[in-house]
Amino acid sequence: MTLAAAPSALIAWYDRHARPLPWRVSPEDRALGVVPDPYHVWLSEVMLQQTTVAAVKSYYSAFVERWPRVEDLAAAGEEDVMKAWAGLGYYSRARNLKKCAETVARDHGGRFPQTEEGLKALPGIGPYTAAAIAAIAFDRPAAVVDGNIERVITRLEAIETPLPDAKPQIRDHVAELMPPDRPGDFAQAMMDLGATICTPRKPACALCPWMDECAGRRKGIAETLPHKAAK
Ligand code: ADE
Repeated sequence: MTLAAAPSALIAWYDRHARPLPWRVSPEDRALGVVPDPYHVWLSEVMLQQTTVAAVKSYYSAFVERWPRVEDLAAAGEEDVMKAWAGLGYYSRARNLKKCAETVARDHGGRFPQTEEGLKALPGIGPYTAAAIAAIAFDRPAAVVDGNIERVITRLEAIETPLPDAKPQIRDHVAELMPPDRPGDFAQAMMDLGATICTPRKPACALCPWMDECAGRRKGIAETLPHKAAK
């Protein structure tokens, strides 16, 4: 397989091995034409900003059950939202969450903007979260780069430039590899690859859909990447 085939190999892997997370559309539903709900994607991405997937799951489900639509969250009492958030930490996120829901409900007719620029204008949505929502909720070709994806890409391309200097290079590779038809699944596939296979220690290279094209593995340096600048 050449690097040109890498995106489709990753997507095929994701279709079989995606983590079944409560904010994702299951492969069965996707086959039926179900698309992601931008409210669900936004809520999960804000919760995941500084909190692990394992910790977020139950909070996410509780929020969606209690406030099924963005208008419901907009109309909720601030105190109730803060209480429901308790335990997730970084409480400015909860205040911004409420403000963002109000803005979307009041100024955007309950519909999230679809572009990174439009999303970044909302409270609590920075460049990373805007890219993640644009890609996952709206299949926009936004380059999503988190810590997992930095690790996957520096290994795939054997990038030895330390972080953060390597960031622009990583972003270019992500943009180049992104399949135009499924940018959201591509981003989530790399997140899953980084979380389950291309792990910081002892990566499970034998199970990796990118095993053959991974330059880091070929050079025997995968596990040492990414390099980080001395603090
Ligand atoms: N971390 C941030 N966003 C995520 C997502 N959509 N799936 C899994 N992990 C994530």
